Amino acid sequence: MSLLGSIISLLSMLSALTQLETNGASLWGTLEAPIFPQFLTNNPILNGFPWGTLTAGGNNPYTSAPNTGVIRNYDFTVTRGTIAPDGYQMDVILINGAFPGPPIEANWGDTIQVTVHNKITGPAEGTAFHWHGFLQKGTNYADGVPAVDQCPIAPGSSFTYTFQAQLYGTTWYHSHYSAQYTGGLLGPMIIHGPHEQFQYDVDLGPVFLQDWFHTPYLEIVETVMKPLAAGGNPKPASDNNLINGKMDFDCSTKAAGDSTKCTNNAGLSRFKFTTGKTHRLRLINAGSAGIQRFSIDGHNMTIIANDFVPVKPYTTQVVTLGIGQRTDILVTANQGPSNSAFWMRSNISTLCADANQPNALAAIYYDKADTTKAPTSKAWNVPDPGTCANDDLSLSVPVFPLNAATPSTTQNLDINFHINSTGSFLWTLDGTSFRANYNNPVLLQVEKGNLTFDPVWNVKNFGSNSTVRIIVNNPTPASHPMHLHGHNMQILHEGPGNWDGTSIVNGNNPARRDVQLVRANGHFVMQFTMDNPGVWPFHCHIAWHVSGGLYANVLERPSDIMKEGKLPMVLQQTCTDWAKFTSSNVPDQVDSGV
Ligand code: C2O
Repeated sequence: MSLLGSIISLLSMLSALTQLETNGASLWGTLEAPIFPQFLTNNPILNGFPWGTLTAGGNNPYTSAPNTGVIRNYDFTVTRGTIAPDGYQMDVILINGAFPGPPIEANWGDTIQVTVHNKITGPAEGTAFHWHGFLQKGTNYADGVPAVDQCPIAPGSSFTYTFQAQLYGTTWYHSHYSAQYTGGLLGPMIIHGPHEQFQYDVDLGPVFLQDWFHTPYLEIVETVMKPLAAGGNPKPASDNNLINGKMDFDCSTKAAGDSTKCTNNAGLSRFKFTTGKTHRLRLINAGSAGIQRFSIDGHNMTIIANDFVPVKPYTTQVVTLGIGQRTDILVTANQGPSNSAFWMRSNISTLCADANQPNALAAIYYDKADTTKAPTSKAWNVPDPGTCANDDLSLSVPVFPLNAATPSTTQNLDINFHINSTGSFLWTLDGTSFRANYNNPVLLQVEKGNLTFDPVWNVKNFGSNSTVRIIVNNPTPASHPMHLHGHNMQILHEGPGNWDGTSIVNGNNPARRDVQLVRANGHFVMQFTMDNPGVWPFHCHIAWHVSGGLYANVLERPSDIMKEGKLPMVLQQTCTDWAKFTSSNVPDQVDSGV
């Protein structure tokens, strides 16, 4: 019997552990989880939708964000903790005691302000928080990448990030310090905006899909970076797959490791559907490595957005998400009487990542279903194509059309790998394996007018070009979810082998998003408009690959960065605090640092 088979045979919907034991202060995955917008009930004064007559199809989202003047304040305290999301007890790092972390919610055009208190002790560790997918126009310094925009937040220090929600839809925040987010520092973000092109009744909020490892993140990173001859392994296998931080695990398997830490039947995530109504679900692949294939038994899904880009609605049975990608779907509860129950499934593509238990389950209950019983529904029969690619690019048509302009410059950034002089496996982007210097952030150096960089920072200076086209050929046997900060990329082409130099999919309105999978032994071609002066990471979002150096800094309009003048003083303060911390504690930077 497969591992999933043995889990299903063990299933009872009565969890053996309390929510506090599995997920700390989080309510995700329980029938008590908030539905959205939360602030309609929590704070009626901030009620309503302030985008007025702006529409998704009629207004350029990159230039139209309203200035609402509303500030959404959040306070995050980061501490170590012990939880057992799938029944296997883990030492993790938590935000306000919760895993996954608390939601951030705002309207398009609001200002988001998050104060992060680094209380990580025993041992102490730096941190830095990134708000995935935001443009950060005018606020590059709030992008939260250590060694790029700021020094890490030193243990005992706090830092406040302030930025505007210039795009809307679904995203997540995560630590950008080493592979720290895989140890628990991540959470959902929901930005409400216009959606005249579709309607729904219930916003069920985030659905986090996340491969899960039964080894603390730092140990995994150490193994990834170790010389191969000394037991290094650049391809660690995940142990389980979680939906909203929950899944069962069969403690009798070898993968259970230390069986004294393992409890069967930890409890699955549960969702409530209102019979006959249409629900919005916000899928987020917040894992470390695995490509997720998501489906709901018996129900078609209507895809309405990919990343922060609303798309012309289209229907599918399975949707594919690489790490960092989001897809918003609408699902109507019309596939049975009001006492029906169905499985939600997310399967890691085992052809693309090593996974000991790749299949996640959660239960969906219509209003009158018995929530103590496991659903008995059957999965769609849609086999994994095994391409390690995203779904057909031509289907993803942005609601606000933008054509593919002729680029003012084109650059090849090939992905590759090598074994370095000490015998470790490293990834390269355009021939360089990136390594950060936590004490000397790139942005602070650019502000001072110094445009000569350490070669291992892999800075690509595109000057004041208007449109940059990037061709990524990937002659490696691994696929990579490539993410660009500060922009949506226009995805011109992807496929096997090298690009032919001319083919473009939907050239009058190509797909746009902020993460795109480049398949194994394949390519992808993207371009972006240089309308956002700053230093913008372009990297693989697989935690272990970016640890191994698959990263570059895109430098955009450096003369405008210098013209904009002084960065907030608090950035320099992060470096002063970090220097003070590192003078008495030497942090062992085992990986690239990001
Ligand atoms: Cu999700 Cu460099 O980010």
